[in-house]
This record gives sequence, C-alpha cells and structure tokens, in this order.
Amino acid sequence: MIESPRLRLRRLRPSDERDLIALDSDPEVMRYVGSPAGPRSFEETADRVRLRIAEDQGPLGFWVVESRADGGFRGLCALIRMPSGDDVELAYRLTRSSWGQGLATEAANTLLDYALGVVALPRIVAVTYPDNRASQRVLEKLGFLPRGLIDYKGVQVAYYVVTRATRNASGPR
Ligand SMILES: CC(C)(COP(=O)(O)OP(=O)(O)OC[C@H]1O[C@@H](n2cnc3c(N)ncnc32)[C@H](O)[C@@H]1OP(=O)(O)O)[C@@H](O)C(=O)NCCC(=O)NCCS
Repeated sequence: MIESPRLRLRRLRPSDERDLIALDSDPEVMRYVGSPAGPRSFEETADRVRLRIAEDQGPLGFWVVESRADGGFRGLCALIRMPSGDDVELAYRLTRSSWGQGLATEAANTLLDYALGVVALPRIVAVTYPDNRASQRVLEKLGFLPRGLIDYKGVQVAYYVVTRATRNASGPR
C-alpha cells in the first residue's frame, strides 16, 4: 500500500470488480484509453478486469486509487511493461467525478516515486493520444519530457520519458 496526502494506492481485490468495470465502461473516461480508444463490450471489459484482479505482476501492475478520507473508489494507476519489453509505462484513469482536483497528479506522483525509488527503475515512459491535453499536463507536472510521436499498438501517440535525474531537475520537488 502506498499513501499520499489525500489518496491511498492499494492492490486490486475481487470486491473492486464492480467499480473497475464501471470505470472502464464510461465513454468519457475511455475516450483516450486503449488501442483503439473507447470502451469495449461488457464481456471483454469484465474479462480484462477479472484478469487484472487475479494477475500478480510483482512490483509492477495495477493499483486502485481510493480516498483516504472515506475509502471511496477514485480510479486506477498502473505500471505496465511496454510492448517492446524494455521500458515501463505509467498509466492512470480516474472516475469522472474525481477529475479537476489534482488527484491524478497526486496519485501518479506517488506511483512514480515508488517506481523510481523502491523498484529502482532507471526511467519511466508514458504515452497519450495527441489530443489528450489533460493527461499531457499531468505528465508535464510530474517532470516527464515530451519525446515526439511514436507508433504504439498501431496508433500514433505522444511519447514522454522521465528519469530520476530529469525528474529532480524539472519535477514537482
Ligand atoms: C487525464 C486525467 C487522469 C486527469 O485527472 P485530473 O485528476 O483531473 O488531473 P489533475 O487535476 O491532476 O491535472 C490536470 C491538469 O490538466 C489541465 N487540464 C484539464 N483539462 C484540460 C484540457 N482540456 N486542456 C488542457 N489542460 C487541461 C488541468 O487544468 C490541470 O492542470 P493545472 O494543474 O496546471 O491546472 C482524467 O481526466 C482522466 O481520468 N481522464 C480519462 C482517462 C485518461 O485519459 N487517462 C490518461 C490516459 S493517457
């Protein structure tokens, strides 16, 4: 379990299934998520959620983001191995009612500290659809640097990289 001032990041549990399916079924949340972007069928969404709950990816993988004040479900954060196998990607998505309060930046900042510190990864990457300005702003606030466009699972995405050194130089602390 990892904590920040307002949030707790913890591993997925079977009892999260309903919240996780609802998150990934919201077309606004999924507008810039997935390749292609957008929600999948209910069956596919439910299968993917159950797999994530059952999967053990060691120090990587998915975390539920919940409020420390009331335990409420706020969304998901993850460290995912890139298809190339070399790098690890930081990913996040929050319930619509959680947007606009700095919570994605707070959750992602906490997971990034864990990835670069506890897991001791040399660098973390992130990809966003070019139109996803809110997500790009989150990455900029965390100290990620833009590295142009790359092909990711058949789509063009904006590619970002952060290392411990560049994060200390330009990140939030
Ligand atoms: C993207 C997302 C995670 C942001 O969550 P959030 O908690 O609202 O993010 P924060 O409040 O920490 O920061 C958002 C920043 O983007 C800015 N922003 C929001 N919408 C914007 C827009 N349309 N254009 C430009 N900037 C925007 C905010 O002003 C804020 O920057 P600021 O602190 O400088 O004012 C959330 O909207 C979400 O879950 N979206 C759906 C899933 C998704 O797209 N995930 C990322 C996939 S790569």
